[in-house]
Amino acid sequence: MKRLHVNIDHCATIRQARGTSYPDPVWAAAQAELAGAHGITAHLREDRRHIQDRDMRLLRQTVRTVLNMEMAATEEMIALALELKPEIVTLVPERREERTTEGGLDLKATGLGKAVERLKSRGIIVSLFIDPDTALMNSASEIGADMIELHTGDYCEASSPGARDLQLDRLTAAAAAAEESGLRVAAGHGLDYPNVVPVAAIPQVEELNIGHAIIARAIFSGLDLAVRDMLALIDGE
Ligand code: PXP
Repeated sequence: MKRLHVNIDHCATIRQARGTSYPDPVWAAAQAELAGAHGITAHLREDRRHIQDRDMRLLRQTVRTVLNMEMAATEEMIALALELKPEIVTLVPERREERTTEGGLDLKATGLGKAVERLKSRGIIVSLFIDPDTALMNSASEIGADMIELHTGDYCEASSPGARDLQLDRLTAAAAAAEESGLRVAAGHGLDYPNVVPVAAIPQVEELNIGHAIIARAIFSGLDLAVRDMLALIDGE
């Protein structure tokens, strides 16, 4: 069964836009779990533009499934992750000026291996968010990652069916290479109801991290139905 991890950052984005205490991403996480989500993903950014420290701490106390903390490999974030012990840490690149995470990690960045080692020493599963290039998979494994999350942005933004097929081939080849390197495979970024099925069908992809599309649909259908509809798609029903 493919697992759905619901990214709740976008609920926090709405809250931060007005500086209110609602909508609360911690409530969103509980409701996503009640609807059948297999995990909750939240990205604590250095600039705290959406998820706040308070959210991450409460999520750690309340999430009943799996908490996937997305973060940059900075000393501040590593210290927090070592304290909170989410089940998974996904290391992502971060640039202040970007609207959202725009590219995969630079695996040559200094200190990445050390960060992975420190997180793993606390029993945390470490995933690296990387571009779907077969050549990167061996490096991800050598760095010590347990998992990689394939960046699906190029696939989702492809401007024609032909271009999309090419990007799907890239994802498929990268997932196979990851498996050969002993890595577990997740995927995410930009996935939506109309484009998720071919990615979920890649055999090695066991987990999907999806946020924007689910929270956007929830405005109209409610979060419960938005999560259930996505679960039905990724599980091939
Ligand atoms: N995976 C990673 C590593 C991300 O940075 C994001 C965006 O926060 C997502 C998945 C989810 O992307 P989206 O909100 O487009 O579904």
